[in-house]
Amino acid sequence: MQFDTIVRGGSVVTPAGTILADVGITGEKIAAIGPSLAAGSNTKIIDATGHHVIPGVLDVHVHLELPFCGTTSADDYRTGTRAGARGGVTTLIDFAIPYAGDSLNDAADAWMKKAEGKALIDYTFHICITRWNGHKDQIKGMVDRGFTTFKEFMIYESEGWQSDDRAMFGTLEKMKEYGTMLLVHAESARVLDELIERHHTPELMKEYGARLHAITRPNFIEAEAIQRAIMWSEVTGGKLYIVHMSTAEGTEIVKAAQARGVPVVAETCAQYLVLNDDVFAREDGHLFACCPQLKKPADSARLWQGLKSGEVSVISTDTCTFTREQKAMWGGDWTKIPMGMPGLETLLPVAYTAGVLDGKLTLDEMCRKLSTNPAQIRGLYPQTGAIAVGSGADVAIIHPTKTLTVSPETMETNADWSPFEGWELAGFSRTTLSRGEVIVDDYKVVGKEGRGKWLPRTVEGMRGLSS
Ligand code: URP
Ligand code: ZN
Ligand code: ZN
Repeated sequence: MQFDTIVRGGSVVTPAGTILADVGITGEKIAAIGPSLAAGSNTKIIDATGHHVIPGVLDVHVHLELPFCGTTSADDYRTGTRAGARGGVTTLIDFAIPYAGDSLNDAADAWMKKAEGKALIDYTFHICITRWNGHKDQIKGMVDRGFTTFKEFMIYESEGWQSDDRAMFGTLEKMKEYGTMLLVHAESARVLDELIERHHTPELMKEYGARLHAITRPNFIEAEAIQRAIMWSEVTGGKLYIVHMSTAEGTEIVKAAQARGVPVVAETCAQYLVLNDDVFAREDGHLFACCPQLKKPADSARLWQGLKSGEVSVISTDTCTFTREQKAMWGGDWTKIPMGMPGLETLLPVAYTAGVLDGKLTLDEMCRKLSTNPAQIRGLYPQTGAIAVGSGADVAIIHPTKTLTVSPETMETNADWSPFEGWELAGFSRTTLSRGEVIVDDYKVVGKEGRGKWLPRTVEGMRGLSS
């Protein structure tokens, strides 16, 4: 067999286990995996000796160029996808959000425009339902257009995004009917509003500053909402996915529901695994405001345990980048902080360093949480998410121990800060291949913007989990 590229001599993470092997690539696909694959005269050889060869990462929770909190998030499809590639991400899923009067098609069109000509890696969107009455009859059309995951927010009334129980219940019924999935941002809106109002005084803001972000969102805010969404999934049979789960309580509720056979899966994000709400006491603590906010070390520990034992299926980022200047909009009032953080570039390094090198996950388990599970849950497997013959040649090659210092100056993100600034992280991608093309070489982006493709999905492609 003639290969265009051979990734030579790496430790290759395959669905059947990790083996020392070559990976032969023809066109955009993996054509062979085995020892000493024969090169033709035109075959490009990528030396992977002494490296891990892992499936390209899917970051399935990303917001690029998002109008939010009175500003627009600072990473667009150019900087965001370059950042992702450098972190071994070969596919991202953003959220197409309809604004006042927009149909679901309008939202998808708007997000297509943001990506076209700019994306370096492949992408698709979850379609957000923000007005149940207007959107409910448009869902099937979006499925036919190639979108199989939908999203509702239980908060964000002021953004015009909030869904109520009627919408969630009705959407889950439709998910059951169509074989699609509803993603839910689970926080309890009315109680959260009440706690914010109680604390929104000049005296308390002076005393506690950005710490009020954490003080007003106790763990029950997330737990109650997860419980309620699970109830609607249980009675309708509609597939539910809890995004950015941050609490130990939420993890327990998901675990119990899964044991009862409820079709619910959960994701957490890198920041909830390695950061905690102590950061809000820092002088620049407001930078770390994201939604839901960072919790306690015990929550992180429970989330790691959930990744290990299976109730937490995916690690993503919820990338929603704001610069220091944008974050300064808070002016001492925590309710005005643009919420979100950069993350695409550091997802794999954080998961690898804090997960694998720290002994919390095996390399194989990490690849399931970053690649295989997200691809399977989102209807993109085995097109991507695995190093397997016939799969797309989406690959990251990482050195087992070489670290880089996280520094915004040397990063691709538009952020002028990082939640992990100064951290020494292993797991940055030395070489990233997207559909067989080298887009990161020697830790530097070399791929061309605009080469990334929209990935249509089908209901038939929506599978369960391998673990
Ligand atoms: O802080 C965050 N997460 N910003 C993005 C919006 C969301 O809730 O995912
Ligand atoms: Zn959210
Ligand atoms: Zn989000």
